[in-house]
Amino acid sequence: MAPTSLFLQALPLLPVLALAADYPGIPKDLTTPVQQRIAFKGPNAISVGWNTYEQLAEGCVQYGKSANSLTSQACSAQSLTYGTSRTWANSVTLSGLDAATTYYYKINSTNSSVNHFMTARAPGDKTAFNLDVVVDLGVYGADGYTTSRKRDIPYVQPALNHTTIAALANTIDDYDFVLHPGDFAYADDWYLKPKNLLDGKNAYAAILENFFDQLAPIASRKPYMASPGNHEAACTEIPYTTGLCPEGQKNFTDFMTRFNGLMPTTFPSSSKNATAQAFAKKAASLANPPFWYSFEYGMAHIVMIDTETDFPSAPDGKDGSANLNAGSFGNTPTQQLDFLDADLASVDRTVTPWVIVAGHRPWYSTGDSKNICKPCQAAFEPLFYKYGVDLGIFGHVHNSQRFNPVYNNVADPAALKNPTAPAYIIAGGAGNIEGLSAVGANYSTNVFAYGDEFSYATVKFLDEQNLQVDFLRSDTGEVLDSSVLFKKHDVAFVRN
Ligand SMILES: *[C@@H]1O[C@H](CO)[C@@H](O)[C@H](O)[C@H]1NC(C)=O
Ligand SMILES: *[C@@H]1O[C@H](CO)[C@@H](O)[C@H](O)[C@H]1NC(C)=O
Ligand SMILES: *[C@@H]1O[C@H](CO)[C@@H](O)[C@H](O)[C@H]1NC(C)=O
Ligand SMILES: *[C@@H]1O[C@H](CO)[C@@H](O)[C@H](O)[C@H]1NC(C)=O
Ligand SMILES: *[C@@H]1O[C@H](CO)[C@@H](O)[C@H](O)[C@H]1NC(C)=O
Ligand SMILES: *[C@@H]1O[C@H](CO)[C@@H](O)[C@H](O)[C@H]1NC(C)=O
Repeated sequence: MAPTSLFLQALPLLPVLALAADYPGIPKDLTTPVQQRIAFKGPNAISVGWNTYEQLAEGCVQYGKSANSLTSQACSAQSLTYGTSRTWANSVTLSGLDAATTYYYKINSTNSSVNHFMTARAPGDKTAFNLDVVVDLGVYGADGYTTSRKRDIPYVQPALNHTTIAALANTIDDYDFVLHPGDFAYADDWYLKPKNLLDGKNAYAAILENFFDQLAPIASRKPYMASPGNHEAACTEIPYTTGLCPEGQKNFTDFMTRFNGLMPTTFPSSSKNATAQAFAKKAASLANPPFWYSFEYGMAHIVMIDTETDFPSAPDGKDGSANLNAGSFGNTPTQQLDFLDADLASVDRTVTPWVIVAGHRPWYSTGDSKNICKPCQAAFEPLFYKYGVDLGIFGHVHNSQRFNPVYNNVADPAALKNPTAPAYIIAGGAGNIEGLSAVGANYSTNVFAYGDEFSYATVKFLDEQNLQVDFLRSDTGEVLDSSVLFKKHDVAFVRN
């Protein structure tokens, strides 16, 4: 959403305001890691990313299976920055790890501490697990959203206690990893705080620094799988103004730099079927992380897609409705859709019965029809249906919604009892400066919609046939909605 009118309303206030970007302090020790994040880089690999206020000749991570015996080390010379950034993004991949195993790690620095993570469950491991979904999560505080309810917690900044970040901290043992398909920080909304109006360039950079510091307690502990949203595109969402954005604040630059080298392409096929293996190889060659890619965790095959660019009439593309003039990121105009086709074709349900696809913009939503991305539906929905995607996860609309299985706007009569069509959720209520979206008019297959307080979703893989989706209120943990999708999963290679 682009509240252009707020920008115009704020202009007359200019002369009376103190102007200063709210940057976090630079640590004295410039090797101090900030904005830490990790991701599944492969079935036996975890990537570690962090920023520093100086360029590193070599970034290193020490790791091992016990906190006081970090006997292995991985290093990389990649230390990237861009036009308006004060920091460098570093990343290192730890490979050859055992599956479903806890490792301790320390980013090498004269000012860092030991943390830990658990590696991915091997594809085909049918152990139950949970993942969390947060979408549309913005910075909290001077340049972001605030609320008068303030409480203390040990993990994260005290003021965050009632937020979705605090909920993720308080429940850290309840989920194995996080999906965040788009809209981080809301740096492009800097102009909503009048104090920033004359210094957008620094305000944008400051919001990113603060947000990724706030997220670090979560993203450094739990693999944090990212894909792009419209708020990553440019310095403002005001149409036709991207040409005025400073270098480094357009065309998804921060997103690309920050997650460079962290997200996987695809995992190699664990299927015994040679055709499936060939599809998986093709998908690997077409994947383009952090924009589109896939990974596997136990009984789940999870695909992250880019609903912003790289398909016909993509909203943030050069000819797109948002006029944000970004992309393309593929080598050919069809690379993303060719990837999705090959990737979904490769899935062997005897190995990973559950297939989940997560992206930013939905094509089913309550409320205003401008919430719905028609070009996304045209591009992606036929592939979801053909390959029997079980659940589509989206955000963009700032609330929580759940839809019974539906294809081409027609409800699947089986509803949650072994449907052919995908079920859908929107988990966009995590909290940001634009506020929550009112729940609009009922869409035919919508069965739950909530936009009163911040909320997020937990997806529980109970077994090969039962998938539970819970929506939780962030500040209280109250379960707002709970459902179980049943799928027989009795066909190895689904083609509808
Ligand atoms: C060391 O890191 C902590 C944050 O982890 C920071 O608050 C502190 O300022 C750093 N110390 C120095 C000397 O840079
Ligand atoms: C580890 O970090 C320290 C402090 O920045 C540096 O002096 C040292 O060379 C680093 N070691 C490696 C192996 O990179
Ligand atoms: C968050 O604040 C509430 C109210 O002050 C408190 O009961 C709760 O323990 C806090 N959470 C944590 C994890 O400290
Ligand atoms: C192998 O996989 C392909 C699809 O990838 C499928 O059409 C074919 O039936 C499978 N073969 C066997 C023997 O399962
Ligand atoms: C955006 O970046 C991509 C990848 O670097 C590049 O191919 C594309 O041309 C850029 N788009 C614009 C509008 O600058
Ligand atoms: C939407 O309508 C359906 C069918 O009448 C109903 O089952 C469902 O509860 C409604 N959803 C909401 C969020 O009101």
